[in-house]
Amino acid sequence: MRWPKGLDGLCYGGDYNPEQWPETTWVEDVELMRRARVNLVTVGVFAWSRLEPRPGEYTVDWLDRALDLLHRGGIRVVLATPTASPPPWFSLAHPDALPVTADGVRLRHGSRDTYCAAAPAYRAAARRIAAMLADRYRDHPALAMWHVHNEYGTVCHCPHAADAFRRWLRQRYGDLDRLNEAWTGAFWSQGYSDWTQIDPPRATQYLSNPTQVLDFRRFWSDELLAAYRDQRDLLREHTPDVPVTTNYVFGDWVPVDHARWAREADLVAVDHYPTEIDGRAEEQTALAADLARSWSRPVDGDGAQPPAGRLRPWLLMESAPNLIYRYAEGTAYAKEPGRMLRHSVAHVARGSRGAMFFQWRAPRGGAEAFHSAMVPHAGADSRTFRSAVQLGEALRLLAATDTATVAARAAIGWDAASGWALQHPGLPSEHISYADEVAAAHRALWRCGITTDFVCPAAGPLDLTGYRMLVLPALYLMDDAVADTLGDWVRAGGHLVVSYLSGVADPDARVRLGGYPGALRELLGVRSEEFLPLGPDGTEPLSGGRTGRLWRERVEARGAEPVLDYAGGVLAGHPAVTRRSVGAGAAWYLSTRLDDDGYRELLAVVAAEAGVAPVLPAASAGVEAVRRVDGTTRWLFLFNHGREETVVAATGEVLVCGAVLPSGEILVAGDALPAGEILLAVGAGTPGSGRPTGRWPVGPAGVSGTPGRGRGARRVRVPPGGLLVLREPDHPAG
Ligand code: GAL
Repeated sequence: MRWPKGLDGLCYGGDYNPEQWPETTWVEDVELMRRARVNLVTVGVFAWSRLEPRPGEYTVDWLDRALDLLHRGGIRVVLATPTASPPPWFSLAHPDALPVTADGVRLRHGSRDTYCAAAPAYRAAARRIAAMLADRYRDHPALAMWHVHNEYGTVCHCPHAADAFRRWLRQRYGDLDRLNEAWTGAFWSQGYSDWTQIDPPRATQYLSNPTQVLDFRRFWSDELLAAYRDQRDLLREHTPDVPVTTNYVFGDWVPVDHARWAREADLVAVDHYPTEIDGRAEEQTALAADLARSWSRPVDGDGAQPPAGRLRPWLLMESAPNLIYRYAEGTAYAKEPGRMLRHSVAHVARGSRGAMFFQWRAPRGGAEAFHSAMVPHAGADSRTFRSAVQLGEALRLLAATDTATVAARAAIGWDAASGWALQHPGLPSEHISYADEVAAAHRALWRCGITTDFVCPAAGPLDLTGYRMLVLPALYLMDDAVADTLGDWVRAGGHLVVSYLSGVADPDARVRLGGYPGALRELLGVRSEEFLPLGPDGTEPLSGGRTGRLWRERVEARGAEPVLDYAGGVLAGHPAVTRRSVGAGAAWYLSTRLDDDGYRELLAVVAAEAGVAPVLPAASAGVEAVRRVDGTTRWLFLFNHGREETVVAATGEVLVCGAVLPSGEILVAGDALPAGEILLAVGAGTPGSGRPTGRWPVGPAGVSGTPGRGRGARRVRVPPGGLLVLREPDHPAG
């Protein structure tokens, strides 16, 4: 089944809030949507107070008219349930359904996301409004998908949450002895003698119990999931043929274990807002898309993760067309021209069924009045809207790639619970961030030009079939079954790279004894008896001119060969990086964070040993290459994230070329171009001209300016800030 319902090709559009505008504006909206080739909009995400201004009193005529208008315009609708933002009347009527912070402060309405998912009144009200929408719009011809809620993320510590937590714990542990054992209750006199004594982790005198905190996070993810399921099941009953989803979001703060949630959605939908503004934004984009694709892998009947390369559709549900807030810094930043196009197509390259934005039209007021939109405050006569039109054209041209898969032979481990556990302030370094550890591993492979999946060991039995290389950064919690699977996989030929803080604890966050890294000690052939963390800026020289950061360990090789040694400090001469041959494979251990170049070089060596090739072996720095495969057809996506024109060796017909003009406008061209000729629209194309050059012939390898025809291997020029998608010559399947 291909979702969303009734939509062929790629999805393009964004959050649309007709409730914020007079109906005359709606007419212009639909006209502009058609101009931009928008085919899907998400309606009603925050419309609860317009839909139900007073308890039980529904005003839906405006939504009827908005959906009818969209339908007449040929635009399909993702209809949202508005439950992320209950109206003021609800919180006044049900103060017990307002969230309580760990400090005991009960929050009030006045923002959004102000509810407790464990409060019966909230759950009932959410079901009621969802049922009303399902009942009324079940047969609406514009309905393509349901969007439950928005970015489940509010955490609550109120008495309802406490009750539900206790029920969850009873189910997990059965009796208090087992809970006390798992929580190491003997430490600091924390043994519980009655379930009612257990609270969510509230503000307390000193460090909290790490396993209590970890279990609360697991519980709260399950509680939010239960709230989602309430609505999903009800919507499915009304409209069995309409898919249901909810949008996931990235970040350390997120209380949801998306890998476990993913199987509950018909289509995995993610929101992505890079937090970096330099070149790292592209790395973050690739990481987010690879994670989303991995979450969307189908789940077999027994819950096992399926082999590499199988793909269920997923969708980039929200991203920013331009200005993004950086709340931590108090400044918003504008996306450079070209980034909207490149980031959107980069998601498609990695499997997204399209590109959607927050938001269609910039609001006149409200907390996010200056967040960017496809139609900015300036209106359609704006660079941003013209870029949106060009992106619409690019997505139309890319429709043929829609069902193609993304093949990866390398994977990285991802475990939300390990990330949560590593946030405990009692660990030896508060400067280790799980998200950073994963990002560093992904960045190293990204810079090698290797496409990477994620595997989520805690989301079901781990199946590594199809992967030749696996990196486990800081996979802190590990059960014996995962360790056994890893051992079998390595013996059968897998190449495993494990970093510090992996396998150190069991799933209850209790440290495995006998030396680190507990669960993987034997497989790796090392025993580490001491952690020697470095401060946030501390470094340690390593052999080979490399540098270690953040973390050190006193490692003894017990069967492994040293690859890099510490070259200074108290560990001078001790192994820092090791390798052990195991059966047909190998297991590597990193006891420190290698500098970026060192990490990349090391993973390039492992990849070469494992037979994992970059997508384009000779791609130059700054060029990202991703391949999608559909039977015998292969599509090559090339992105030039640099500021210089670049030339890469590639073969095929140009499907889409996108370039940034010196004025900052975007230009997209495609299928009209014959093979061997691309449209280059930047001055850099003709050195010194500084002017757009229009059609620009691409000659055979090494010779520019000579028109080339046919399908032979050739060099193609990728404009700075631009992209190129080629349909490669057919090749035998497999
Ligand atoms: C998303 C959210 C949107 C909007 C956006 C701003 O996380 O779903 O409603 O707030 O952030 O970047």
